[in-house]
Parts: sequence; structure tokens; C-alpha cells
Amino acid sequence: MSDFKQIAPEEIDESAFKLIGKDWMLITAGAIDSFNTMTASWGGLGVIWNKPVAYCVIRPQRHTRKFMDSGDRFTLCFFDEKYRKALEYCGSHSGRNVDKVKETGLTPVKSGSGAVYFAEARIVLDCRKVYIQDIDPAGFVDPSIADNYPDKDYHRLYIGEVTKCMVADA
Ligand SMILES: Cc1cc2nc3c(=O)[nH]c(=O)nc-3n(C[C@H](O)[C@H](O)[C@H](O)COP(=O)(O)O)c2cc1C
Repeated sequence: MSDFKQIAPEEIDESAFKLIGKDWMLITAGAIDSFNTMTASWGGLGVIWNKPVAYCVIRPQRHTRKFMDSGDRFTLCFFDEKYRKALEYCGSHSGRNVDKVKETGLTPVKSGSGAVYFAEARIVLDCRKVYIQDIDPAGFVDPSIADNYPDKDYHRLYIGEVTKCMVADA
């Protein structure tokens, strides 16, 4: 656990492909008295509408979806390798049935925006929801994308403006 310092999003000097695709992230939505978190390895960081943004995609059956849809903020947290087990847990259990905070030992923190992040993270992106859209199979230019959806449980895309970016102050 460490203190954080705020940096500009463009100062993140690590590959988004590695951060999201390999390290994985926790998507957390809700308020400190009622929130949920889940592991994700699909998403991205970039720029649109002149805003620094992060996007993630969440299937309908995730408990986290409810919190993403009812609130206007979410966080993306990235961790050191030693937290892999915690991320595996949050990616294989639902907050409907378990207390992920209790089971992983992660420490939720209320950010100035009201969003929730974890004290153990090494990078935190505090995001304001600016756009949502359900993935539409009519847009599958490459038909093999449908292989990701044998149950037609198309993800909902959430784009968030990165309003604050914090990194652990080592
Ligand atoms: C490495 C990894 C990556 C995942 N990526 C996603 C993702 O991008 N979108 C998604 O909807 N589910 C993803 N999941 C599945 C959810 O994390 C998992 O279903 C979780 O238990 C949902 O928790 P919840 O019901 O408490 O929201 C991923 C799981 C793992 C292990």
C-alpha cells in the first residue's frame, strides 16, 4: 500500500496493451457504502471528443453492470503482480454471492469524486461515464467476432473521461 501522486493521463508511460491485456484491471463502480468490483482484460485507453478516456466492456450478467449503469463514475485500478490472486478471485466470483473485499483483503478508498478505488493499486484511473452503447452484432465486419458470443450476451461499452489519474508514489 502506498501514497498516490496525481499525474496527467498522458504521463502514463506504460503500454495500455500490457496494462489491460496482460496485467488486467479491476473495474469498480458504486459508492463506498455500496459498490462492486470485477476483473477485466478487455478495454482501452485513448482520446476521443478531445477528452482522455478509458473504455471497458461488461457483459449483461455481471453484478458490476448494475453499479455501472446506476452511477456516473467508475475507476480502473492496475496492480503489481503480487495481487494476481486477488484479481483472479474478482474475475471468477460474483459480488452477488461473495464479499470480494473481505476475501481478497483489498482496501477500498473513496476518492474525491465519490468513486471507489483500492489502496493497493499502482495506477488508478478515476473516470466519469460519458458514453455507453451495447455491442451490436450487426457491426461485426469480421464474422468471427461472433465466436465470443455463443450466448449472445453482448457486452455493453462504457467510455469514461479520465478525470484523475493517480500512480503509487514509490
Ligand atoms: C482475466 C479476466 C478478464 C475478464 N475480463 C472481463 C471483461 O473485460 N468483461 C466482462 O464482462 N467480464 C470479464 N471477466 C469476467 C468477470 O470478471 C467475472 O465474470 C466476475 O466474476 C464478475 O463479477 P461480478 O458478477 O461481481 O460483477 C474477466 C475475468 C477474468 C478472470
